[in-house]
Amino acid sequence: MDRLIIASNRLPVSIQKSDEKLTVTPSAGGLATGLKSYHKNNNSIWIGWPGIDAESEDEKNAVSELLSKEQCLPVFLEKELVENFYDGFSNATLWPLFHYFTEYTEFKERYWLAYNKVNELFAQTIIENAQEGDTVWVHDYQLLLLPNLLKAQRPDLNIGFFLHIPFPSYEVFRILPWREEILKGLLGADLIGFHTYDYARHFISSVKRLLGYDVDFNTIALENRQVFIDVFPMGIDYEKFESKALEVQSKPIQERSKMHQDIDRFLMGMPDRKLILSIDRLDYTKGIPERIKAFKHFLTKHPEYKEKVSLLMLTVPSRVDVEQYQNLRSEVEELVGSVNGKFGSLNWNPIIYFYRSLPFENLIELYSSSDIALLTPLRDGMNLVAKEYLASKTNHKGVLILSEMAGATKELGEAISVNPNNIQDVSDAIYKALTMSVEEQSKGVTTMQKRIKRYDVHKWASEFTNALTNSQKKIAEHQARKVSAKHLEQIKNDFIKAKQKVLFLDYDGTLQRFYGNPEDAKPDKEIYDLIDALSLNKSTELVIISGRDKNTLHKWFDGKQVTLIAEHGAWIKHVNKDWKGRNKNQVKWKDNIRPILESYVDRTPGSLIEEKTYSLVWHYRKADIELGILRALELKTDVSNFLLNQELEILEGSKVIEVKETGINKGTAASEYIKDTDYDFIMAIGDDWTDEYLFRELPETAFTIKVGTNKSDAKYYVDNYLEVRSLLKKLINTK
Ligand code: UDP
Ligand code: G6P
Repeated sequence: MDRLIIASNRLPVSIQKSDEKLTVTPSAGGLATGLKSYHKNNNSIWIGWPGIDAESEDEKNAVSELLSKEQCLPVFLEKELVENFYDGFSNATLWPLFHYFTEYTEFKERYWLAYNKVNELFAQTIIENAQEGDTVWVHDYQLLLLPNLLKAQRPDLNIGFFLHIPFPSYEVFRILPWREEILKGLLGADLIGFHTYDYARHFISSVKRLLGYDVDFNTIALENRQVFIDVFPMGIDYEKFESKALEVQSKPIQERSKMHQDIDRFLMGMPDRKLILSIDRLDYTKGIPERIKAFKHFLTKHPEYKEKVSLLMLTVPSRVDVEQYQNLRSEVEELVGSVNGKFGSLNWNPIIYFYRSLPFENLIELYSSSDIALLTPLRDGMNLVAKEYLASKTNHKGVLILSEMAGATKELGEAISVNPNNIQDVSDAIYKALTMSVEEQSKGVTTMQKRIKRYDVHKWASEFTNALTNSQKKIAEHQARKVSAKHLEQIKNDFIKAKQKVLFLDYDGTLQRFYGNPEDAKPDKEIYDLIDALSLNKSTELVIISGRDKNTLHKWFDGKQVTLIAEHGAWIKHVNKDWKGRNKNQVKWKDNIRPILESYVDRTPGSLIEEKTYSLVWHYRKADIELGILRALELKTDVSNFLLNQELEILEGSKVIEVKETGINKGTAASEYIKDTDYDFIMAIGDDWTDEYLFRELPETAFTIKVGTNKSDAKYYVDNYLEVRSLLKKLINTK
């Protein structure tokens, strides 16, 4: 991989100003803490917001200089932009919406405009600094428009995107007024990564429903490009946490930090005293009030634990200018006060509450000394704190209680999993953790440690960047097969030289675009003109080869100098001749299959049945796309049972399932057509799975061309029907 440019709103360090002096402090939050280890060891530059409103050019220069020591480059944002982009669209629109807090979500035009503006500023800074072929890795919800802004201006860049927060279900995402713009922004990336499969499938579902793109497994087929989707659960710098924990725990008591000594004193204050730890940014997604209520419930139910257990809560200030965060702070502090007031004593605070961030060493002391970690977010993309706690447990003793709503829960199956909204459930989990045997603790911790040690942040980042390189290779292979100016020249030369030529042209999606209603896809003037012009050349035979029924093709093309092959080859009409069908005593089977298809129409709103001479077709282009795909799978299984011992087969096309008599397909029809003539130029163009028969059956010398970006046996690709038309125009006026 060439040079890597990382782009995220938050840099690994933030610049602050106190007493007119600029200071550099590490940033909190999973993105910055996780990625910084990777960044440090790699030759990357990191572009982001320094967190300060620089007042003058001199100050900007000073900030830039401080950041350059960290291989970072600033994007300066003015105060008003920060309010509307950061406090506004990022943290009052996207953050609550993506975490399912729809009641907190604000939709304001000025937020949206600022969001666009900032994404553009990032694009500009990256473009100014990116060399040819560089890789840009964009991070998180603050920069969802950036991938496409970059792709549009610099198609040479390899662009990866990783989302650190959940991607919500389609039902929630669709609420966003700018949902299509956001999706299109993201799809400028070549690879998009998520923490969990759920987030990835929610994203794919929104892309399918809102933009209508085809998705094949983990590849989204845009009109002219492919975008790859995959799951990469973010890891931590395991070694860093483990070694620091070993270091702090092996220090003699008197050399320990003040914080560490305080913890020691607390734990030794009474035999069997236990410390429960929670660490999070003060954020409503973290379930902090719910956690306090659950702890209160626990103390009420288990008075025997009074004075024996404390909950140490480290809450890190976050987004302090956003109203919801201010309200949350008051709520949390009130709750802490009420629990301590109710249960506390002169020498015991049930809740030890810190509202600040702590240096790394103190964090490790907390992690490694506490008996239980109680992490109960209501929604969390991953929750790295859970992994950091485990990595710091070098004596393998400890219990993790983890919300089932955190992405990390997928990898940490040995933790006690809780529904954070269920106060009873959380209280029971605390009791279970307090009474868990050391053997059981050790078994769970060791198993989880092995897993997160293996898939640490370095592995995570290299898996992502390798996948990006691979996607680049696949994209390059596809690009190489696109009809280029050089290919066009060759096609044209061969066409001119040839004495006997035939062109097989699929209709829907190839000569014409798709319409919701198939009737609307009738030929326009340009199609007729093309056919007329091409058929002037006497040595050229034109064949429209379609899955459409013969009546429609007849209505559209009767009188034109073109051969029509209808219903995938069941019918043929040579120029100026009548239709000829297959000699089959057909169609008794239809009475058995029709009721099955009808039941699918009833259960799948928007779908419909089309009846052709030798086939029955179930169309679901206008149905809900996800339901359609599901029903199509079901339908195939249902119908398969009827196919046994009958000469029938299922053909799957673009949003259609066709049940038809065997042996009829475009491949056999085209082979039949060419068998008695010695053609020295054969070309076939199609967009659908059914055209693959054609591509496979035609002789090796044929020019086979696939429309779109789906996988194909064709030799070449074009992007869309417009390119097909312009290719055909090139063959006009040649002799
Ligand atoms: N953290 C920090 N300073 C603190 C407390 C926590 O830098 O005083 C770090 C913590 O070590 C972790 C990150 O903040 O790496 C929180 O990440 P997580 O994924 O748990 O949640 P997020 O804040 O990203 O929502
Ligand atoms: C989460 C987000 C990050 C963000 C961090 C801290 O981890 O995914 O993008 O940087 O919270 O939030 P802040 O608003 O301070 O950057």
